[in-house]
Amino acid sequence: MKNKVLITGSNGLLGQSLLKLLKNDESVNIYATGRGEDRFLENGYTYHDVDLTNGDEIHQLIADVKPDVIIHSAAMSRVEDCEDYPDLAVKVNTEATDILSDAAIQNNVQHFLFISTDFVFSGDQGMYKEEDERNPPNFYGQTKLRAENLLFDKTDQLKISIIRTCLVYGQVKDMSRSNIMLWGRKMLSEGMEIKVVNDQIRTPTFVDDLAQGVIQCFKTRSEGVYHLSGAEVFTPYKMVEIMADEYKLDKKLMTAVNASTFKEHGKRPLKTGFIIDKAKQGFNYQTTTFIEAMKKVLS
Ligand SMILES: NC(=O)c1ccc[n+]([C@@H]2O[C@H](COP(=O)([O-])OP(=O)(O)OC[C@H]3O[C@@H](n4cnc5c(N)ncnc54)[C@H](OP(=O)(O)O)[C@@H]3O)[C@@H](O)[C@H]2O)c1
Repeated sequence: MKNKVLITGSNGLLGQSLLKLLKNDESVNIYATGRGEDRFLENGYTYHDVDLTNGDEIHQLIADVKPDVIIHSAAMSRVEDCEDYPDLAVKVNTEATDILSDAAIQNNVQHFLFISTDFVFSGDQGMYKEEDERNPPNFYGQTKLRAENLLFDKTDQLKISIIRTCLVYGQVKDMSRSNIMLWGRKMLSEGMEIKVVNDQIRTPTFVDDLAQGVIQCFKTRSEGVYHLSGAEVFTPYKMVEIMADEYKLDKKLMTAVNASTFKEHGKRPLKTGFIIDKAKQGFNYQTTTFIEAMKKVLS
C-alpha cells in the first residue's frame, strides 16, 4: 500500500522542492495544499486550495485526504510580516499547527512533521544542538516556539518530528519571497551597490538537501527534534562574495556591514547555525557543498 503524504505550503520554496523530489516516487501518493492556485503545476500529485487560517477547511482537508504522513511546511515566514501582523502570525504559525495536529490525531495520521526555524534560538551562542535552550529574539520565532511546545504536548498521541532549518536558499517557480542568493545575483548583475551583513553566522541550507532530509525523516519514521541545514558556516556577505567570484560579478559593488546597520523591525539572532550530526546518524541526512548547490540554483 502506498503511503499518502500531505504537504502544506506546497507553493513555497520547500513545498515545491518536496513536490519535485516526490512526484515520481512510486512508494507514495502525494497531496499538496497551498493558498490559492497551484503554482508548481506539474503532474504526479493532487492539489487542494486551503487557507490554513480557516479551521473548518483544515478539518475537512484531513478528513477528505486521510493522509498517513503530514509535512507541515506552510508558515508566515517573513520576520517583518510577523511583527506587523502579529494576530495573523499566531493564526498561521501557531494555531494552524494546533488544529492540523488535532485533525491528524482524530484521523489516525501516522507521522506529523513540522518545519521550524533557527530563529527559536537567541543567537548568543551559535552552532545549536537540538536540545539547546530556546529563547526567540523576534515574534516569528515566538510563534514557532509556541507551535513546537504544543506539539511536544501531543507526542503521546501522535508521532511527531520537529525539523528546524536555517537560511534556506534555492529557486522554485513563481516565488512569493526571494532569498539571499537570488537577490545577490540580481543586484550585482544589474550593477547595483549592495550592503551585505557580515556579522551574522549561519549554516545556509540548500532547499533540495532540506527536502531530501525531510523525506528521509518520514521514510524512516524518525521522531523527535532534528536540525537540518548545510554543513558549512558562512555570513551572508561571504555567501554573496563566493557567488560574485564564481560568476565574475563586480565585488566592488559590495559593502560588508554589521546587522545593526539596518533598522529592521524584528531582531535577527546574530549567531545561529546548526550541529547536524543527529540527522546524519538518524536517517543519513546528507549535504551538498555550498559551491555545488549554488551552481545548481543559479544554472
Ligand atoms: N526560508 C528560510 O530561510 C527558512 C528558515 C527557517 C525555517 N523556515 C521554515 O521552513 C518552512 C518552509 O519555508 P519556505 O522558505 O518554503 O517558506 P515560503 O516559501 O514562505 O513558503 C511558505 C508557504 O506557506 C504558505 N502560506 C502562508 N500562509 C498561509 C495560509 N494562511 N494558508 C495556506 N498557506 C499559507 C505561503 O503561501 P504564499 O506562497 O501564497 O505566500 C507559502 O507558499 C516554513 O515553515 C518556514 O517557517 C524557513
